[in-house]
Amino acid sequence: MPRYNFDEMIERTGTDSIKWLKKHLKDNFGDKDSIPMWIADMDFKVAQPIIEAMTQRAQHGIFGYGHKSDDFLEAAVNWHKRRNDWDIKKEWILFTPGIIPALNFIVDVFSNPGDKVIIQSPVYYPFYNIINNNGRHIANNPLVLNNGRYEMNYAELEKLAQDSRTKLMFLCSPHNPVGRVWTMEELQRVGEICVKNDVLVISDEIHSDLIYKPNRHIPFAKVSEEFKMNSIICTSPSKTFNLAGLHVSDIIIPNEKLREELDHKLRTIDIDPGSFAAVAQIAAYNQGEEWLEQLIVYLQDNVALIEAFLNERLPRVKMINPEGTYLAWLDFSDYNFTSAELQQVMQKQAKIALDDGYIFGDGGEQFQRINFACPRAILHKALERIAIALEGAS
Ligand SMILES: Cc1ncc(COP(=O)(O)O)c(C=O)c1O
Repeated sequence: MPRYNFDEMIERTGTDSIKWLKKHLKDNFGDKDSIPMWIADMDFKVAQPIIEAMTQRAQHGIFGYGHKSDDFLEAAVNWHKRRNDWDIKKEWILFTPGIIPALNFIVDVFSNPGDKVIIQSPVYYPFYNIINNNGRHIANNPLVLNNGRYEMNYAELEKLAQDSRTKLMFLCSPHNPVGRVWTMEELQRVGEICVKNDVLVISDEIHSDLIYKPNRHIPFAKVSEEFKMNSIICTSPSKTFNLAGLHVSDIIIPNEKLREELDHKLRTIDIDPGSFAAVAQIAAYNQGEEWLEQLIVYLQDNVALIEAFLNERLPRVKMINPEGTYLAWLDFSDYNFTSAELQQVMQKQAKIALDDGYIFGDGGEQFQRINFACPRAILHKALERIAIALEGAS
């Protein structure tokens, strides 16, 4: 079995990486040399079988129009069966070049201007743009922080769902940025409220392969037959295998009528997987599992490093324990900074590029999100910089 070396430092500056782009770091985080730990991709090389499959594809030398091949679809079907014991059919899968495009199409097809979409802040910030820029309204059901763990507010959710203008709910599962992996009971309660009030659940499960034991991801559509018929499940190998730049995602819709409606839209735009997207998904799902298992161990050790460092050096900063994802949600509320002050500390003093909590919406103001999918040496350096920046803060 190959042993992957996640400690390897790989220069990304000067590639097409937005995360490491000096101009972007200067313009958005105040310093071109700040350590980039913001956008959700990883500083690790992908699994060797993916590199080999893509190299072989490149050598072929012809890159004409592609199609959703059986191999492409079967790789996803088998993956969901093996990882989550979830039985899906090839026909249920629609291709989009990413989940953000899919969410835009979904809002367009399954709601009308002026309708409302439920989200649960703090949450993945592009949700706000997708809803607002399509002329829909946000119906926010803020998560509740209870003893260091975020929970859903079902009473408020029910109220929002009862509004006749509420048509959709974006369920982030697992939840970015707070790292929750929703339990069966939680999913049941959400699903029941949505079924009862005729709200279609759009379950964004892009982070669902990155789960830390003993937590287990449950695909929303697997919970019950009713939920299966009232949901669209957005999946992708992109977070799992570090393929975001290849633009591949699988939108799984068991309900034939809903699937037809979205497919109609996608056919209008005529999108198929690009040559490299297709090859990468097949190699990742069929041959990437060993790499993923090793990655998860490495990421879990990074979580342990953050925890130990905070305990020892920064006891006033609390990490919300991530049950999944490679994103940690750090609570700086003990310092009583405004979000502008907190941003200054990170950008001007620590010189690290994190996502400010406030951009995730209500409840994020005194938090920062750190992407810890990087070699441990980088993570350690970043934590040191935060500690030094906060020394002497009252
Ligand atoms: C919850 C969530 N959804 C969607 C995306 C982006 O998906 P894509 O790159 O496939 O558009 C991300 C990326 O960080 C994410 O965290």
